[in-house]
Formats: sequence, structure tokens, C-alpha cells
Amino acid sequence: MNTLIKVLVENTTPSSPLIGEYGFSAQLLIDNHNILFDTGSKDALFLNSSVLGIDLSLVEEIVISHGHYDHTGALMPFLNKYGGRKIYAHSGIFPRRLIRRSGGKMVDIGCKFAYQEAVDAGAELVFTDTFTEIHSGIYLTGEIPRLTAYEDVGGDFVFEKDGQLHQDLLPDDMAMVIEHAEGLIIISGCSHSGMINTLEYCRQKTGCSKVLAYVGGTHLMNASPERLENTIKAVRMYDVQKLIIGHCTGFYAAAELYSQLGRNRVIKMDTGMKFVF
Ligand SMILES: [Fe+2]
Ligand SMILES: [Fe+2]
Repeated sequence: MNTLIKVLVENTTPSSPLIGEYGFSAQLLIDNHNILFDTGSKDALFLNSSVLGIDLSLVEEIVISHGHYDHTGALMPFLNKYGGRKIYAHSGIFPRRLIRRSGGKMVDIGCKFAYQEAVDAGAELVFTDTFTEIHSGIYLTGEIPRLTAYEDVGGDFVFEKDGQLHQDLLPDDMAMVIEHAEGLIIISGCSHSGMINTLEYCRQKTGCSKVLAYVGGTHLMNASPERLENTIKAVRMYDVQKLIIGHCTGFYAAAELYSQLGRNRVIKMDTGMKFVF
């Protein structure tokens, strides 16, 4: 499948007048499909698309990787501007979510829209809680089993239910998988399930062991040296051809992956980059 990935929102950008914004969004042109994967947190999606000459009105469907603000923040502005679309997401994206910062401060980081709000704006929400083929050779993982001992969600996340706060394991975190002739292309927003758990699940569900590329955030910014070491070992073992990483990967983890796995394999993605497979 011909696949073109355009990074519309990422934390950083090397070129003005594009802007960096904490979050992730990419346009995926896969054969005849035009899909927006996540939306970033605010308005960089619109500004950067306009600078790059991308007509967002041609986007047919939107995938939401999980219910954090930096992936869902521009969805309502998108729907209000361009009208209703089919939206794929896990049904668990909506609870109020927070992160406990060091020092104990709680910060709201949840999904920026409620179910009914999106429906009222014309969204046709399709919940993909389990592994689902959305088009021939294009899949959404739904919930990803957590099998590795060394991976965690990457932060002190909590959600609110009935007025109580509970530990948030981000069960709604999902990735997209494209069956390319040269191997799987996996796209993830934050990889709260763990990059290696995500890789393993995609290989298992598709029956394809070759991984051409892993693209997105990897939430390794707080990873221990042991986690990084095990992650690098697994990437080598699975022989992932390209790691195109950014957003919540964090500078030091990206630097470690780059130095251990090499410049032919690891690319730090920035806003405005595009990748052809
Ligand atoms: Fe994120
Ligand atoms: Fe996240």
C-alpha cells in the first residue's frame, strides 16, 4: 500500500513559519484513503496545514489514539470548521483525566470533548475497543495487552469516577497498523501501552513479523535506564527498520535510541516532515 505520512503537529519544528505544539497529529494518505491521525492540542493543526498547503477539508476520517488533550484538542474546532466525519476511537476516551506532577499538583489532561458534543457537531463515532480492520490492510488495535515487565504508562496518570480518583492505565490507548508490502507500518500517539507491547500485539494480530516502521510518540521521557535498554534490545530483536519518534519520547530517550540504533534506523520527527513508504 502506498503510504505517505505528513507530520502536522509535533512538539518541535525546525522551520518557520510552522509552529511546534505539545502533541501529535499526522495526515495519512494510504492508497485512496485520507485519514487524520490525532489532532494535536490546539491550533497548530490548522496553521501548519495551511503553511504546508494541505487542504484539511479533504480528510475523510479521523483516528483518535487515546483520550489525552494533546491528541484530541483540535477535534471540535475541526468538526466545527469542516463538518462531521467518521471518528474512530476507543470507547474509553471520555473520563476526566489528570496527571499528578512532582510535588503533588494535579493537572487536567483529558479528552477535550464530550461524546454528545462531538455527535452534535456531526461526528459519527465508531468505537474500536478491539483489533479492527477499518479498510483492507488498515487496522486499529483497540486495547493493547500489557505483557512486558519493564514497560508502564509513562507517568502518574489518574482518572475520575464517581468523585473518586483511580490509577489510569490508559486502556483506550491504541495504534494504527498498515500492512505494507515491505512490513508493518505502526502509528501510535503516545504508546502508553508501551512501544514493545504495541509492536508485539500488531505482529501477533496481523501474523506479519516484519516491521517496516514505528511512527509516533513513545512516552519514554521518564523511562528508566533498564526500560530503555530492554526497549532497544527488543527493537533490535524485532528488526524494526525505521523508528520515527518524537512528541513524548523525550530528548534523552531519543538521543539514546539514536546513538544505540543508529542514524539509518532512528529519525527524530518534527512538525512538517513527511515520510513515503
Ligand atoms: Fe501525548
Ligand atoms: Fe498521552
